Amino acid sequence: MEFDYHEAFSRNLGWVTEAEQEILRNKRIAIAGMGGVGGSHLLTLTRLGIGAFNIADFDQFELPNFNRQAGASVSHLGQPKLDVMSTLALDINPHLDLGKFPTGVDTDNLDDFLDGVDLYVDSLDFFALEIRREVFAACYEKGIPSVTAAPLGMGAALLCFLPGKMSFDEYFLLQGQSEEEQALRFMLGLAPAPQHMSYLVDDSRIDFNARKGPSTPMACELCAGFAGTYALKILLNRGEVLAAPRGIHFDAYRNKLATTWRPGGNNNPLQRLGLRIARKRVMASTGQGGGQQEQTRNTPLERILDLARWAPSGDNDQPWRFEIVDDAHVVIHANDTREWCVYDLDGTSSQIAVGALLETLAIAATGEGLRAEASLRPDSPEDAPLIDVRLVPDPGVSSRVLLPFIKARVTQRKPFTDTPLSSNQKQSLERAVGDGFSVVWIEGKAGRRRMAKLLFHSAHIRLTTPEAFAVHRQNIEWGVQFSEKHIPEGALGIDLPTRKIMRWALQSWKRVQFMNRFLAGTWLPRLQMDWRTALGCAAHFMIVADEPLESVEDYLAGGRAMQRFWLEATRQGLQFQPEMTPLIFSRYVTQSRVFTTVAPEQELATRVAGELSAILGGQETMSRGVYMGRVGFGPLPDSRSTRPPLESLLIDTGS
Ligand SMILES: Cc1cc2nc3c(=O)[nH]c(=O)nc-3n(C[C@H](O)[C@H](O)[C@H](O)COP(=O)(O)O)c2cc1C
Repeated sequence: MEFDYHEAFSRNLGWVTEAEQEILRNKRIAIAGMGGVGGSHLLTLTRLGIGAFNIADFDQFELPNFNRQAGASVSHLGQPKLDVMSTLALDINPHLDLGKFPTGVDTDNLDDFLDGVDLYVDSLDFFALEIRREVFAACYEKGIPSVTAAPLGMGAALLCFLPGKMSFDEYFLLQGQSEEEQALRFMLGLAPAPQHMSYLVDDSRIDFNARKGPSTPMACELCAGFAGTYALKILLNRGEVLAAPRGIHFDAYRNKLATTWRPGGNNNPLQRLGLRIARKRVMASTGQGGGQQEQTRNTPLERILDLARWAPSGDNDQPWRFEIVDDAHVVIHANDTREWCVYDLDGTSSQIAVGALLETLAIAATGEGLRAEASLRPDSPEDAPLIDVRLVPDPGVSSRVLLPFIKARVTQRKPFTDTPLSSNQKQSLERAVGDGFSVVWIEGKAGRRRMAKLLFHSAHIRLTTPEAFAVHRQNIEWGVQFSEKHIPEGALGIDLPTRKIMRWALQSWKRVQFMNRFLAGTWLPRLQMDWRTALGCAAHFMIVADEPLESVEDYLAGGRAMQRFWLEATRQGLQFQPEMTPLIFSRYVTQSRVFTTVAPEQELATRVAGELSAILGGQETMSRGVYMGRVGFGPLPDSRSTRPPLESLLIDTGS
C-alpha cells in the first residue's frame, strides 16, 4: 500500500480542520536534542502532520537512555540518535523534509538551524544551559516562538516564550551565575510549583557534578503531549497560549495541575524564596549521608563487605569490625553493648544484629559467585565473639533474589496503611525465615489493638526508667536527616513539636522526670511512636524458633532468619519496623531479673510479659521468640540511618 499524507493523518480531522491540517503540513519545527523528550517530540509532531523539521543531536544511543528515550532500543545501541530518529520519523511520513544537524546546535550553525523555522521546541540536555540560552535568544531575535517542556518526576512543566513578551533570559536570569546556581534557577524557573520533589525517594540520585538526575518515561511522554498541543495552538493561532511569566505544570503522580505566574521570573520574591530552600536542599543532599559518594571497590571481598555493612543493628550500633586476612578470609570482630544498653540483654540483641550481618554478607557473596562460610571461634569470649568468614568460589552459586535489596532495606517508624497482607505475601515471608524458624502473625483490628496496648505499656517503661534514658540519650542524633552511627531525629517517626520537646527533655534525667510528672510527658511520644504505629500496619509478627534460643550461635542463626525476612519484606515493597522492647522486657521477667531501679516499672514489665504471652497463645511460644515487628504498605522514610564508610570499619590486628 502506498503512503498517502491525507489518509495517514485523517484521524486528526475533527480536532483540526482539513485546512488547518494543510497549514501544519507546511510548517517547519526545529527540535534541538533527540534524547528523552526530543525523540518523543519528533514522533508526536510527525504524527500531528507537521511537514518539515530541523533536528540536531551529536550523541549515540546508550543503555542508560532505555528508560525514556523514544529511539533507545537494543537494535539502536551505539547508533547516532539523529539517524535513528530520522528513520523512525520517515517511517511515519516518508515525505518529511528533514534538515539534519549531526554535530548538534552551536553558535556557528544556529542561523541555519533556525532558518525558515516556525516554532522551536527545546529538548536539549537539562544541563546544556549555555547553548540553550543562545538558542532561545536567537529565536527571540528572529521572532520565532519557542516552547520548552520539562519532564519532572512523573509530570511535565511547560513554558512558552513568545516574540514581544518576556524572554528566556529575562525569565530565568542565568547570566553570570555559577553552573550549579544556573541549574537550580533553570529547575525552579521551569517548575515554580515543584510538585515532584515531594515524592523523590532518593536524593542521592541527583548528581549535579556528574550532571545526572533520575527520570521517567511517563514524564517524557507527557512532555510530548504538552508540547504537541502548544505547537498546534501556536501554529494555528488558536486556543489560549500561556506564555512566560506564566507556566503550567501537570503532575500525574499527585493528580495535580498548577498554573503559575511569576512576574519578574526568578527575581520574583516567591522564586527567590524557593531558590533559597532549593540551595539548602542541594547542600543537605550532597553533604550528608543521603548523598554519600559511592567508592569504587576493587576486590570482591571489599565489595561484599561494602554491602554487608548495611545490615541492621539495634540503634544502628553496628557492633562489628572487619579484619581482612586475605582476599578470601575476613574475621568479624563482634562486640555487644550489654554493659550500658538495657535492651541488649546478655548481648542477645547484638548477636541478632551480627547474625543479620553474616546473612547479608552471604547474600552479597553470591553476587560475586562466592559462597560465604562462617564459623564462630569456640574460644572467643561471648561478649566479643570472633567469626571467621571464608569465601569459597562455587560455580553452583547464583545471585540470590534478595541481593538487590540489601541497601534498600530500611526502618520506617511512621504509621503504614492497615491494608492486610495477601496470603501469597505471607507465605513468601514465612518461607524466607527458613528451616528451624516460623512466623506468628498478629493481625486484624483486634490483633492490632492488643499490640497497641502492649506497646503502649512497654513504651511507658522505656520513657520512665533511668536505664532506658541513658540509652536514648546517646542513640539519637538530633537535627539531622541521616546519621552514620545513630538514629537521626528525622527517622523517629514523630512530628516536629514532639521532637523538639523530646530533644529538650533528653538533655537530663531531671527534665524527663519533670515532664513525666507535670506535663504528662509520656503521652505524646507514646501515642505517636507506639499507639498510632501499632494500629497503622498490615500485621505484627513474631519470628519464633523451633527451640528456645540459648547459645550465641542460636542467636546468630536467629539474626540470619530475621534478615532474610526483612529483605523479603523489602523485596515485596513492604515497610518494616522492629518492635523488640516488649520481648526484651518479657525476657527479663521470665528470667526473674531486675532491669530497673524503678519498682513500678519492673511491675509493669510483668504485666507486659503477661500480655505478650496471651497474644502469642502461651508462655511456651514466647520463650521461643526471636524477633518482633510490624510490616505494611506505605511510603519510604525520608530520613534514615546510614553507615560510616567501609574504611572506618576495618581493623588491622597485626596478626
Ligand atoms: C536487634 C535489633 C533490634 C531493633 N529494635 C528496634 C526497635 O525496637 N524499634 C525500632 O524502631 N527499631 C529497632 N531496630 C532497628 C534499628 O534501629 C535500625 O535497624 C538501625 O537504626 C539501622 O537503621 P536501618 O534499619 O534504617 O538501616 C532494631 C534493629 C535490630 C537489628
